[in-house]
Amino acid sequence: MIPVAKPLIGEEEIEEVEKVLRSGFIAQGPRVAEFEEKFASYVGTKHAVAVSSGTTALHLSLLALGVGNGDEVITTPFSFAATGNCALYVGARPVFVDIDPKTFNLDPNQIEAAITEKTRAILPVHLYGQPAKMDQIKKIAEKHDIPVVEDAAQAHGAMFQDEMVGSIGDMACFSFYPTKNMTTSEGGMVTTNNTELSDMVRILRAHGEKERYHHSVLGYNFRMTDIAAAIGLVQLKKLDGFNQKRIENAEYLTEHLKGISCIEPPFVSPQVKHVFHQYTVRVKDGKRNDVMNFLNQEGIGTGIHYPVPIYKQELYQNMGYNDKCLETEKATSEVLSLPVHPSLSVEELETVVISLEAASDKFF
Ligand SMILES: Cc1ncc(COP(=O)(O)O)c(C=O)c1O
Repeated sequence: MIPVAKPLIGEEEIEEVEKVLRSGFIAQGPRVAEFEEKFASYVGTKHAVAVSSGTTALHLSLLALGVGNGDEVITTPFSFAATGNCALYVGARPVFVDIDPKTFNLDPNQIEAAITEKTRAILPVHLYGQPAKMDQIKKIAEKHDIPVVEDAAQAHGAMFQDEMVGSIGDMACFSFYPTKNMTTSEGGMVTTNNTELSDMVRILRAHGEKERYHHSVLGYNFRMTDIAAAIGLVQLKKLDGFNQKRIENAEYLTEHLKGISCIEPPFVSPQVKHVFHQYTVRVKDGKRNDVMNFLNQEGIGTGIHYPVPIYKQELYQNMGYNDKCLETEKATSEVLSLPVHPSLSVEELETVVISLEAASDKFF
């Protein structure tokens, strides 16, 4: 089986974890501090605060911004559920704006119509590793004085024009889940240039403590461990190499899928560095599931990111959401992610192409 995703853990990560385990310092400690410093320096922000996951990074970012009961957060419905759920955690309402069909990212031209006096944040996602249109989004946000939180869970090392993802909005959130471009096992990071916001995230991730056993606000235990940070420190050094391999694999696939008319390879905006967390094609004529099943039978792992718009999840339906974002709904029925991870061999990439050619002959 060629898996659709595969974490690349080497001897160095294992050795660094062993060192932490032998040190006796296995909760949040010096390795977390070192990881934060190196991650901030990589992204180019003043601060980085390590947390337990991408989801808790989003949750704490909204809390730090003071988003709460009755507020609204504008975001995309074509993402992992955590993107919407983080607004619910703080008592706010996610307001869903449809995507641009070319990039699958939040359509900036539709944001302004969704802004109300209750809007407290705009939360674009850099889906599949391709940055959202941050120039337009920031312009709208600045005009209405609304903070932007980047959901960069899938886009470590990506760039919009000459700016690193994670340094463009007021805050940004990364995930280090094992399928991501770099991992810590579970883990997340908040990046920002705003000292007040980073201080607040630090307090919130550790029970609202500014001082040990003195709780100023309602906080959580959303800390990262030194074990996770030790993995992250090694993975961060490898990130650019991993991303380069992802980009090359994507270029290979796009070049070789050109001739298959029923498959639409991903569009890459000339404004961005796309880091291909996923290589996601559209399969035409309602044949996505047929093609997917065929590839799976051929031993090729695939993914559907995502099969259901967030507002159509049972949780949201039960809350009364009845949105209909047409481009999102179309995408949910057409998208298919193919293997693009850095450990793929040329033979495996060839197998993916040959199998897609066979699927095309069979179903179209
Ligand atoms: C776009 C997006 N946002 C948020 C998350 C949540 O991250 P985590 O799984 O680390 O909580 C993920 C990943 O799983 C994601 O893909």
